Amino acid sequence: MKSLALYVFFIVLCGLVLSQPKKDRKCLRGKVITFPDVTTDNWVKLHPNESMDLSAATVCLRFYTEQMSFEPCLFSLATPSYTADFSLNWLSSIRQYKMTIHSSALQFDGLTFNTNQWISMCATWDANSGLAQMFVNEVASIKKAVASKVPFKGDPVITLGQCQSQYDGEFHQHHVFTGFIADVHVHGQVLTTRQIKTYMEAKTKYKLGDYINWHNLMYTIAGSAQVEEKHQVTFYSKEEL
Ligand SMILES: *[C@@H]1O[C@H](CO)[C@@H](O)[C@H](O)[C@H]1NC(C)=O
Repeated sequence: MKSLALYVFFIVLCGLVLSQPKKDRKCLRGKVITFPDVTTDNWVKLHPNESMDLSAATVCLRFYTEQMSFEPCLFSLATPSYTADFSLNWLSSIRQYKMTIHSSALQFDGLTFNTNQWISMCATWDANSGLAQMFVNEVASIKKAVASKVPFKGDPVITLGQCQSQYDGEFHQHHVFTGFIADVHVHGQVLTTRQIKTYMEAKTKYKLGDYINWHNLMYTIAGSAQVEEKHQVTFYSKEEL
């Protein structure tokens, strides 16, 4: 009887170990991550090589969705000091984008949102000026002041498709993203408008992230989120590169 209990124990243990999502390093060029359903079980974590000590940052990504409800989270970076140290949401009810820096939020109005089309987005923030700016499909927002002028510091936990409500913690149904996310790059500086335009046009030679690079990405994927080929999930477009 005792050995049976032990046997069952090991089977369960093995099951747990096998079902733990694994870290992977891959080039995701030409790939998307599919978030197929509204559940907090689907998430992707990105693992940078180093902890953060950045006095400026730019986050660029592309997404494709049909979401017209709630506040889906595209990108969420938490550090031990700030739960939302750099995060990006779409506020569907008021059709604005929300950017959060050091847990201070600001909203951008009048930027493009289209359902079922690739949308390219870059967001910049500089600790020296404290100014944030957002770019969506080649339209630039105005610059806005947000957050205290201190750099990003510490070991970040970065998630796609979910917002962290505490450092490396819970997700909420309200912020679940469904659709595709691709070409996520994080730079340790404010990119120039010319560099951002090149990214938006998806030219082959756009600048790859020096902090998070989609073409050499260490990540963990969980739930029914999965990596797929961009040309197999959406029609050919200039963003395909
Ligand atoms: C992280 O380290 C790997 C392995 O040394 C390297 O190939 C990759 O380019 C680095 N990533 C970034 C964003 O610097």
